[in-house]
Amino acid sequence: MADTTFRAMIVEESGEKSFSRRIAERRVEQLPDGEVLVRVSWSSLNYKDALSASGNRGVTKKYPHTPGIDAAGIVEESRNSAFRPGDKVIVTSYDLGMNTSGGFAEYVRVPAAWVVPLPDGLSLRESMIYGTAGFTAAMSVFALTERVAPGAGQILVTGATGGVGSMALAILGGLGYSCAAVSGKPEAAKFLSGLGAARILTRAEATEGSGKPLLKGIWSGVVDTVGGEILATALKSTDMQGVVTCCGNVASPELPINVFPFILRGVSLIGIDSQNCRMAHRRQIWQKLATDWKPEQLNQLAKEVSLDGLEKEIELILRGGQVGRVIVRLNG
Ligand SMILES: NC(=O)c1ccc[n+]([C@@H]2O[C@H](COP(=O)([O-])OP(=O)(O)OC[C@H]3O[C@@H](n4cnc5c(N)ncnc54)[C@H](OP(=O)(O)O)[C@@H]3O)[C@@H](O)[C@H]2O)c1
Repeated sequence: MADTTFRAMIVEESGEKSFSRRIAERRVEQLPDGEVLVRVSWSSLNYKDALSASGNRGVTKKYPHTPGIDAAGIVEESRNSAFRPGDKVIVTSYDLGMNTSGGFAEYVRVPAAWVVPLPDGLSLRESMIYGTAGFTAAMSVFALTERVAPGAGQILVTGATGGVGSMALAILGGLGYSCAAVSGKPEAAKFLSGLGAARILTRAEATEGSGKPLLKGIWSGVVDTVGGEILATALKSTDMQGVVTCCGNVASPELPINVFPFILRGVSLIGIDSQNCRMAHRRQIWQKLATDWKPEQLNQLAKEVSLDGLEKEIELILRGGQVGRVIVRLNG
């Protein structure tokens, strides 16, 4: 097995602050040590992968590197009794694709503690349509459903055409929540209404920069993926006892807000960190995604590319131009 060669994306430093990407052959023995060797069937593209693939040291410190924070495939070798050759598994989060060789490759080798058995009801391909984006959306929805009932009012989803946003809309719609979507892509209105968005706001409409401490409370909950002024406006516009989840910063890492939504309306701001989600909760979320939370339109939410087709998708996601999810066929 050690001599087995496989195809992988390799990102290299090609000059001062300049990085290049190519698809090349690697050998299994070059993979990091780990208890479980997985032959990857499918991976998926997330915003973080694009950062890693373009030399962002906040995500990946050392190059050459193979990105890919998501992988789903079949166990080839295992030194841990919890997994056997032939098992179908999902590997996402932890250090995969950050500083550990990732899923944009036909093999990954990882600690057994990172591996989730594929739940019944989900194919390997479907698990990567969700990928980290869908998993994060589901963690956000989980936090909302604990405190906000479907009939309580509308849920706002920001960055709505993106991976996390589109998955959140699809899951919430399936659970009977009415949603409004914030999007910078007017051309994606049909896509968003197809996911169940009852109302679509432009980014300008979702941004109120007057500095007022509170705005009219119109949302019962918010799934935010962008941060900055849009998140601040959403918090100020959340009604009594509303729940706001926050997972991303594509607009800004800043949050220009005061305490009034929290102390006058009892609004909760819940941080979502999929990377370090505990294994028991991780399995619980995957179980929901495989069963009653699985959106009817799941298989239409992703476009499929090969390793060679990833290049232009990476450029597109970096420009905020993706609509829905991108899955990568390896040995699928
Ligand atoms: N905390 C976690 O565990 C976790 C996990 C996964 C992802 N994330 C983070 O969540 C965020 C979204 O991830 P993703 O995979 O969904 O990315 P994505 O597919 O690129 O989607 C992001 C979406 O945000 C919108 N957007 C882009 N630039 C914007 C700007 N300047 N201002 C306002 N909206 C903008 C765009 O949607 P519209 O054109 O429709 O507005 C874009 O499609 C990223 O910051 C990512 O790092 C965090």
